[in-house]
Amino acid sequence: MPAETSIPVSADALAHSQRVSAFLRARLEQAGGWISFSDWMHDALYAPGLGYYAAGSIKFADPALDDPKQLKGDFVTAPQLTPLFGWTLAKQVAEILRQSDSLNILEFGAGSGALAHDILTALDAQGIAAHYQILEVSADLKARQQMRLGAWADRVTWLDQAPTSFSGCVMANEVLDAMPVEFFAWSDDAQLMQRGVIWDGDQFQYEDRPAPDTLAHLVAQRMPALPDYRSEINLQAESWVRGMGQWLTCGAALLIDYGFPRHEYYHPQRHRGTLMCHIQHLAHDNALMAPGLQDITAHVDFTAMADAALTGGLEVLGYTAQARFLLNAGLAEVMMQQGELGARSNAQMRVAIQKLTSEAEMGELFKVIALGRGIEGDLLGFRRGDRRDSL
Ligand SMILES: C[S@@+](CC[C@H](N)C(=O)[O-])C[C@H]1O[C@@H](n2cnc3c(N)ncnc32)[C@H](O)[C@@H]1O
Repeated sequence: MPAETSIPVSADALAHSQRVSAFLRARLEQAGGWISFSDWMHDALYAPGLGYYAAGSIKFADPALDDPKQLKGDFVTAPQLTPLFGWTLAKQVAEILRQSDSLNILEFGAGSGALAHDILTALDAQGIAAHYQILEVSADLKARQQMRLGAWADRVTWLDQAPTSFSGCVMANEVLDAMPVEFFAWSDDAQLMQRGVIWDGDQFQYEDRPAPDTLAHLVAQRMPALPDYRSEINLQAESWVRGMGQWLTCGAALLIDYGFPRHEYYHPQRHRGTLMCHIQHLAHDNALMAPGLQDITAHVDFTAMADAALTGGLEVLGYTAQARFLLNAGLAEVMMQQGELGARSNAQMRVAIQKLTSEAEMGELFKVIALGRGIEGDLLGFRRGDRRDSL
């Protein structure tokens, strides 16, 4: 049985979740009855043929094609919302390519391929024939990307692992938040507990165990021991960013995601952490529900990403909110270039821009951080309102 869900799902989806649950129970049994939350999150999202990103569910809504009252999938990302996002980003990408004297773009976790499509379209229009590489861990999404990007078949390639050396522009939109996190809780007597998952004979449950010394040490460096406080730490994303320092020889990575600097991330009032699940456009924090049918994410600690970049030998080239970044990079001009599109398209464009830039939507919660080396001066997207000093 999947863990309880009050959300109506099809018989096929229910059967799929039952297979994922059976796999996770077998995994728990092999591991002696308990696995860390990060292992649980990894399998629930990426177990081959079973996990949320590794099986065939729709996942992303496409507001331009779906009936607005009945969006498909589970969530909407900025590239799915409107091509204006990718077209604007392309201006920043073009500047990075110029500065690094390269035509290479590498996107991690390209989802449906929408961002790659829009960036290639915008760069082609400027006469920049970029080479686009994609590293995607989901075989299902890779197949969707290959269909969507067929027009650039001679210039788009897929990688199985990070390159050994790369110069150009790296991108990852909403990828860091999808990497498995450790879930921790402070006990009343200030001991750090690592949250894991068990099967109680009836359902999956959380069970806390004293955290290993390394985890306890890393968390204690970042926040005080606060009773009844739980949160997450994304060691995989940190190691991914550090690793980039070994292969990004010249250029910049634009990492876009929802999150905060550390003082906000581990703020005493954020005592329930940032875990968030998405299923059929509902957001909630029950990560053990309906395994395989829902996305599981955690917000990003951008201070940790900046520290990891510095440890890996990269510079932090800029950090700001998504709204500020898009306006700096030329969203208004890109919009004007569209001219009159007809009443329906104009209205859709206005709604999308409002979502991308409004403080109440993605404009403030989403941030852009640029990490790299060999780049001179301020990058376009950070020329005004750079918030590196808040990290
Ligand atoms: C929330 S989706 C975002 C998709 C897309 N970037 C967008 O904005 O629509 C997360 C994506 O990251 C991919 N992913 C997660 N971890 C990854 C990793 N370590 N390397 C590459 N892709 C990864 C997932 O398979 C998925 O395509």
